[in-house]
Amino acid sequence: MSEAPPTPENSRAVLAIDGPVGVGKSTVARRVAERLGFFHLDTGAMYRCVALRAMKLPEEKRADGAALRRIAEQSRIDLPEPGVVLLDGEDVSEAIRSEELSAEVAIVADDPGVREVLVARQREIGLRQPAVLEGRDTGTMVFPDAALKIFLDASPASRAKRRTEQLRAAGEAADYEAVLAGLMERDRRDRARPVGALRIAAGARIVDTTNLTEDVAVSLLAAMAQDHPVFAAAAAGAARS
Ligand code: DC
Repeated sequence: MSEAPPTPENSRAVLAIDGPVGVGKSTVARRVAERLGFFHLDTGAMYRCVALRAMKLPEEKRADGAALRRIAEQSRIDLPEPGVVLLDGEDVSEAIRSEELSAEVAIVADDPGVREVLVARQREIGLRQPAVLEGRDTGTMVFPDAALKIFLDASPASRAKRRTEQLRAAGEAADYEAVLAGLMERDRRDRARPVGALRIAAGARIVDTTNLTEDVAVSLLAAMAQDHPVFAAAAAGAARS
């Protein structure tokens, strides 16, 4: 890609936020989208929907690429409002967050056929309106031409600490060492994926939230977008139409 600064002609009004598990991407992305009045797309929720359907397959079919791709093609996934995920019209917002599914979803996310189908849909959604996309490959594969790319990072220890606190607040008996080990394994898998692996996109700005509050991270990202000529042009276009 050229080194020329992004202009409304050569880039998309998309804020692409990628980063490892437990860094707080979803909450930050949702709040930034709210503040900017942009659509928020949690791309991980789409992989989770396909995994929910895949769990109904017989065990030996769960890693079958053709079967997984078919599921991705045939699943209608809608995100009508923040936090709500509909799969073929059914509200699966909670079902897709179960521990059992979280353990299975990497097989689905590793599949190149599933990724091809979902990346095309993600791109379609992001082209319809100014959007904040969030996941692992939104700045590398989905929108390499995003106007603004952020790699949200934090130390494994701080991510594990936050996650342990969240689980305990939800009444679960969480052990910090076990949470940390699980997180490191998911990081390894996210980085080793043959297609769509987690990595820092060309031109991405790295924001390390280890020592930032969520409020500060949200304000920082929103300010970066507001300062950006591509988003200003999109907002002016929306105001004119
Ligand atoms: O962010 P999450 O935990 O909801 O993501 C669910 C799974 O999908 C996880 O295995 C990472 C994977 N994923 C991906 O491969 N690419 C994305 N753009 C988003 C998520």
